[in-house]
Amino acid sequence: MIEYWWRSLAMLLALAVFASIVAALAGASAGWWLFCAGQFAIIVFHQRQLARLLSWLGERRSTLPTTNGHWGEIFYLVQRNYKKWRSDNQRAADDKHEMFQVAGALPEGVVILDESRRIVWLNASAQRHLGLSLKQDKGQYFNYLLREQRLLEWLARGDTLETLTMPSPVTSDRSLSLQLAALPNGRRMVLSHDITELIRLDEMRRDFIANVSHELRTPITVIVGFLEAFADMKNPDPNQFKVQIGLMREQSDRIRALIDDLLTLARLESAPDLANDSIDIAALGQQILNEARSLSRGQHLLSLDMDTQGILQGSRPEIYSACMNLVTNAIRYTPVGGDITLSWDQAASGGVQFSVRDTGVGIEAQHLPRLTERFYRVNRGRSRDSGGTGLGLAIVKHVLLHHQGRLKIESAYTKGSLFTAVFPAQRFTVATRSIDATLASAQPEK
Ligand SMILES: Nc1ncnc2c1ncn2[C@@H]1O[C@H](COP(=O)(O)OP(=O)(O)OP(=O)(O)O)[C@@H](O)[C@H]1O
Ligand SMILES: [Mg+2]
Repeated sequence: MIEYWWRSLAMLLALAVFASIVAALAGASAGWWLFCAGQFAIIVFHQRQLARLLSWLGERRSTLPTTNGHWGEIFYLVQRNYKKWRSDNQRAADDKHEMFQVAGALPEGVVILDESRRIVWLNASAQRHLGLSLKQDKGQYFNYLLREQRLLEWLARGDTLETLTMPSPVTSDRSLSLQLAALPNGRRMVLSHDITELIRLDEMRRDFIANVSHELRTPITVIVGFLEAFADMKNPDPNQFKVQIGLMREQSDRIRALIDDLLTLARLESAPDLANDSIDIAALGQQILNEARSLSRGQHLLSLDMDTQGILQGSRPEIYSACMNLVTNAIRYTPVGGDITLSWDQAASGGVQFSVRDTGVGIEAQHLPRLTERFYRVNRGRSRDSGGTGLGLAIVKHVLLHHQGRLKIESAYTKGSLFTAVFPAQRFTVATRSIDATLASAQPEK
């Protein structure tokens, strides 16, 4: 800059010297005229450059023209700073845009309020949770739109540590948890979380504990009652109490069965890896049929259809337990003399399926979707009398989930039921040779 200053000064001095020479040669007035004309030319030049700069600053469209000297340097610096400012600005705008995009995609609802609690911005989750719309509600007072008294009081308290739980204003069957966060300049951010699933899980946990306690209380009360009666006796003779001891044993078995089922369920839920046994479905079918016959004690007509043969990959104990649960139910809920048909056949999806069809009591349609819930029983009294705890089908469902399969239930009240455990195609290999052999052995001998 200093260099330019000296150059300007030198130019002025040169003009003054030249004007003095002209004044000496052609008279003082000619010298003055020359000096003034020179000054005028310099002013015009500067004005022109200033006008170019001003017009560029106004429009900022084209690049500034290049020029020499002071102005060249000024143009260059202005343009360079402007470019830097513009790229900084663009980057800040991009960052802001990206930040809003991220906030917009958050599963949590975000509403930004100004210092007077007017809506500045909100994301898609907040629209869904709170029924607000960015287009319509921007600039509106948040507390005018959501008039829930508890919400207004919570907002007025402004406590960022206090969480508010309330039903969603959109649908009352969903629950929200709201939290406040303080932003600069008196702004606030309302964060909403959909906690319906958490509440449901918590309810399930409480129900589960209540159910287990209830199931355990009855047999324990029976056992404790007898024990107290025995304790009060002077010289009890064990032979006199055969019936009571039998009942106590029955109740103890009940407790043990319940604990076994609970442990099975816990194991199924927590075990991520699965044994990969090769199970011959024909042998498994026969084993189940034998077991079913011994359970039924000749009270039902039991049969097994093998429409397909092959090898099923999976956990043998789990699959056996799931199939036996279905068979035990069929025996338990089919009156004496009823038919129970077990079958293995090809599933429509390409896999293999094990079905248990009975001609038992059947189930009314409204119970079907809830049958695989833990402790769900259609008729509590009857099921408990027959020793059921209501965990059997929950275990079946988990075993099938473990094998990427599913349970299908069809039933006609008072007529009978059909329970089908479907296993996916990738777990089953059809044994063509064995089928051929079976067919060959089925041919009458010549
Ligand atoms: N084949 C069936 N016919 C009629 N009702 C059935 C049949 N299978 C199951 N149910 C109904 O479904 C309910 C749930 O069955 P689940 O096997 O889960 O429990 P449970 O048999 O009562 O007890 P658990 O199997 O734990 O000993 C039963 O209480 C019964 O009401
Ligand atoms: Mg059962």
